Amino acid sequence: MEASEAKVLASACEPRRTVRTFDGTSLAPEARELLETLASNGENPYGIPVDLRLIDAETYGTTSRVIRGTSWYVVGALPRCPHAEEAFGYVVERLVLAAAAHGLGTAWLAGTIDRPTFERVVGVDRDENRIMPAVIAVGVPAARMSALERVMRSKLHADERAPWDTLFFQGDFAHPIASPDACDPTLAATLDCVRLAPSAQNLQPWRLVCSDGRIDLFEHRTLPLRPIGDVQLVDMGIAMLHLEAGLARQGAHGAWSFDGPAAGAAGASASATYVATISY
Ligand SMILES: Cc1cc2nc3c(=O)[nH]c(=O)nc-3n(C[C@H](O)[C@H](O)[C@H](O)COP(=O)(O)O)c2cc1C
Repeated sequence: MEASEAKVLASACEPRRTVRTFDGTSLAPEARELLETLASNGENPYGIPVDLRLIDAETYGTTSRVIRGTSWYVVGALPRCPHAEEAFGYVVERLVLAAAAHGLGTAWLAGTIDRPTFERVVGVDRDENRIMPAVIAVGVPAARMSALERVMRSKLHADERAPWDTLFFQGDFAHPIASPDACDPTLAATLDCVRLAPSAQNLQPWRLVCSDGRIDLFEHRTLPLRPIGDVQLVDMGIAMLHLEAGLARQGAHGAWSFDGPAAGAAGASASATYVATISY
């Protein structure tokens, strides 16, 4: 990831929030062009091809019951294969953060959508070798949230995040990082990017073990594993994007590998499954 792109993405981590209430206007041509350009970038650490496109869902008669004031969605599909969900999360979150940096609102939607219709739009219903883990609603945020959105945010504790010592560790799982002050400022800023990421039901399944020049990423599973389009694996891909952007903003180029955790972290937590390592 280029430093200039990372700066844009990382600076959007804090202001971004899920937007479910849009202002009712259609997307301006420039916004459509921007989203189409962003959607064409499927590059991801797994090299899995991700096809995304912007649609006016009204044309297809499809919708989400929690979204007000926009009919625009980014939809996509990818091959059904190991790590498809992580690749999807990474690619789509790059679009989400870039859209936020340009003043557009987005909502990740995996559950509260008319799934069969969206799957028809992307052709997944006719091809059992492809999956559609989620879609994104996109548009201009309304000045006020709908009553439904306010209730949803409150139920999900959407403005809250788990404490640092639940999510982040130094060296191994026996040594939680108590607060940003407990690690060097570069690492603290990077971890904060991850902490602010969106996740299905705000469950924040990511656990990060930091060692010298590397961070091992683990998944703490709380939802049953869905064999197709698992949302917690999508969350892990989202965390990977936030982690890479956060590091790159600090001038550290991260390289992904998938060959196992640092020796100290190995097997140290029964409830966490290894996902990936970024070395910098
Ligand atoms: C993979 C994924 C799936 C999600 N699915 C839905 C959904 O179906 N409906 C919904 O209203 N929000 C959905 N969300 C949004 C989360 O509820 C939201 O990210 C979380 O509550 C944190 O709030 P924030 O994004 O405003 O920080 C999803 C988020 C992710 C990352």
